[in-house]
Amino acid sequence: MKPIISSHLDAPPPMASSSSSSSSAAAAASSSCSAGGGGGNPKPKPEKPPYNHPYHRLLPRWHHHHHHVPSLSKLSIWSFFALALFLALFLLSPKPHAPSSSSSSSSAAREERRRSLRAAAAAGAWERSVRASAAPRRGAPGGLSVLVTGAAGFVGCHAAAALRRRGDGVVGLDSFNDYYDPSLKRARAALLWRAGVFVVEGDINDAPLLRKVFDAAPFSHVLHLAAQAGVRHALKNPSSYVASNVNGLVSLLEACRSADPQPAVVWASSSSVYGLNTRTPFSESDRTDRPASLYAATKKAGEEIAHVYNHIYGLSITGLRFFTVYGPWGRPDMAYFSFTRDILRGKPITVFEGPGHATVARDFTYIDDIVRGCLAAVDTAGKSTGSRGKKRGPAPLRVYNLGNTAPVPVAELVTILERLLKAKAIRKVVKMPRNGDVQFTHANISLAERELGYRPTTNLHTGLKKFVRWYLDYYGKKSGRHGGAGSISAS
Ligand SMILES: NC(=O)c1ccc[n+]([C@@H]2O[C@H](COP(=O)([O-])OP(=O)(O)OC[C@H]3O[C@@H](n4cnc5c(N)ncnc54)[C@H](O)[C@@H]3O)[C@@H](O)[C@H]2O)c1
Repeated sequence: MKPIISSHLDAPPPMASSSSSSSSAAAAASSSCSAGGGGGNPKPKPEKPPYNHPYHRLLPRWHHHHHHVPSLSKLSIWSFFALALFLALFLLSPKPHAPSSSSSSSSAAREERRRSLRAAAAAGAWERSVRASAAPRRGAPGGLSVLVTGAAGFVGCHAAAALRRRGDGVVGLDSFNDYYDPSLKRARAALLWRAGVFVVEGDINDAPLLRKVFDAAPFSHVLHLAAQAGVRHALKNPSSYVASNVNGLVSLLEACRSADPQPAVVWASSSSVYGLNTRTPFSESDRTDRPASLYAATKKAGEEIAHVYNHIYGLSITGLRFFTVYGPWGRPDMAYFSFTRDILRGKPITVFEGPGHATVARDFTYIDDIVRGCLAAVDTAGKSTGSRGKKRGPAPLRVYNLGNTAPVPVAELVTILERLLKAKAIRKVVKMPRNGDVQFTHANISLAERELGYRPTTNLHTGLKKFVRWYLDYYGKKSGRHGGAGSISAS
């Protein structure tokens, strides 16, 4: 029997290159398998030494010494060679970085797992903070649970602290925007934190966030004080008023109407809705359809929007028209605050006067009086009647003036400040530009008196004294000259 392998050695030689040698060996091995059944090649060709074949140099002895070796052994030997070569190539071939890449991908997966665990833990901690903060103090009479928006703001921080002091559960929400120095907002929030009030940082336009907050705690009330405040800023950034005071209000009311239970809503409108109204003192039944500023227009729009949500969804809604609120932890953009700063720095202050030297006056209302009004509005709110977004019956819709009923000319405000600060103001009296301010505000508070028991008790001199004490303490402390401003209680 002719060795099967010989037929291959007789075959035309493959290209004599080292690279092709392996493939020819492999080909030899594989074709030996396919030809295995052809052991009975009837007329094998005579054997010719494959001189041109590179194996020839390697395998001469096989031909010489093994032409008598049974063909099966030759096949096995060639197979063995082919397999050995194949194995050698396999072992020597560059290793893919499988172990390291799989270890790096598994470490990425571990890191991802750790990250999601951390996120879940943070979400859990966040939810626990909201729930704990929303829980009324055990044994507190009434024990409400109130979401206060704008809690890092001037009125918001005082109101949140007062609710907490009497034992209500309070959660704050604030965007900490930079309309004025955000570090003042952070300082207020830090005080609230120490008082046991957790302030969520976020925008009232963030509907998923609001849902999360309402899912975490069942609020009985929402005290909505977040807004773009100030009148003149609208000349620079009008859309911020629409964003917070119109869109933001709708977003918040949407969250309230779908919340279960539906909370009662008390929110800050403004005395500015009286606009060009000349009937004094301003009463809730007066015209409010002639706003003098975009700020006023957005607050007026808010009152109409409140009507809609009360009408369709049965939300209990109370609007409070604040009159020029002032006091410790106040707003740096307001006249009494910036006058104080500029008088102390020896910088001139601009005091407005009306046409024909007419007095510009404001019904300045001290923060503690406003806070008492807010709490009274919360306590008398009456329940929302809707559930799952459906109205189940009529709910209260109210609006109240919260003022002081004692307008003071701005010129007199400056005189009081001069006395308290023991410094002379450099007054620049100019005609009031038509930029949104009105000449005169004066609240008729008889409705709030009757229905809320609201009775302001702080006159401007007393209130400003408290403000100046806080101002010197807070800013003195910041510049390292004074002691600490530690409490939010304004009284
Ligand atoms: N202070 C006054 O004299 C006065 C007078 C009338 C009405 N108001 C109204 O009372 C409320 C409180 O006023 P304030 O003097 O405390 O003002 P503030 O600016 O000190 O407080 C408002 C807070 O709301 C936050 N805020 C604004 N837009 C927000 C948004 N889209 N999402 C979340 N937070 C947002 C701000 O960061 C700020 O901390 C406002 O609605 C204001 O319009 C105030």
